[in-house]
Amino acid sequence: MESDSTQPSVPSTPADPGQRPGPGSSQPCQTVSKSVKRRARHEFDGWAKTYDRSIVQHLLFRPAYRMFMEELYEWRRHIPDPFDGLDIGSGTGSWLAMIAGSPLPSRRLVGLDYSGEMCRVAEQKAQTIEGAPSFINGDSEHLPFADGAFDFVTCSHSFHHYPNQAAAVREMRRVLRPGGRLMLIDGFRDNIIGWVLFDVLITRAESTPEARVFHAPWSMMRQYFVDSGFTQIRQRKTGIWAPIFLTVGTA
Ligand SMILES: C[S@@+](CC[C@H](N)C(=O)[O-])C[C@H]1O[C@@H](n2cnc3c(N)ncnc32)[C@H](O)[C@@H]1O
Repeated sequence: MESDSTQPSVPSTPADPGQRPGPGSSQPCQTVSKSVKRRARHEFDGWAKTYDRSIVQHLLFRPAYRMFMEELYEWRRHIPDPFDGLDIGSGTGSWLAMIAGSPLPSRRLVGLDYSGEMCRVAEQKAQTIEGAPSFINGDSEHLPFADGAFDFVTCSHSFHHYPNQAAAVREMRRVLRPGGRLMLIDGFRDNIIGWVLFDVLITRAESTPEARVFHAPWSMMRQYFVDSGFTQIRQRKTGIWAPIFLTVGTA
């Protein structure tokens, strides 16, 4: 079931988590930023080996790959030119493997992830794939690529781990060619079910007192895209019990 909801019903918590202050606002942003990233690395280094067998795959991750694939097909089916794509927070590389295994004409597929273990598992999987994607251990806020290096950037279920979300979207915009697209998916926390799942349960599970994850609400996500200079911004939501939403923008 899919909808084009535009009326979030649960208000967001912080006014601007683009750079989030620490709990009680006593910690400098840079310290918080580092602890959020360290926390993410720790979580995903530990999860890497069993990640592909997790039940969450069915609930959250695969529905996101399906949404991306719909978008990519719709966009590229009449464009024969091969494309270059970057997936940020690429995890074990399943989404890039899907593209490589599809009839779509990819030229260069790169995954970037902050967890070295996730990259290692992704690289192992990629060895058996034709037109194999490559993986880089890096940070979404500092992409090691030239301006305009990619035709698309994707990012799924990773954004809520970024302590400086606005800066990350600006980086994504920077590495896109004119006319390139950013497709970003994360948990939809703007209705009651999404709020309980993402803002309460998952935030509690993935945060420490020093390092909180943050699911950007619908309107805030749109604003990040606007502020980074994206045009033709579209958003759509899917899923009832595990709602997620996609935001697409053109560079
Ligand atoms: C839930 S996983 C999602 C992986 C993949 N996108 C998927 O949908 O299966 C979140 C990923 O984001 C990565 N991550 C967290 N913070 C990051 C950052 N600052 N820069 C790059 N990757 C990050 C984690 O290491 C983890 O692999």
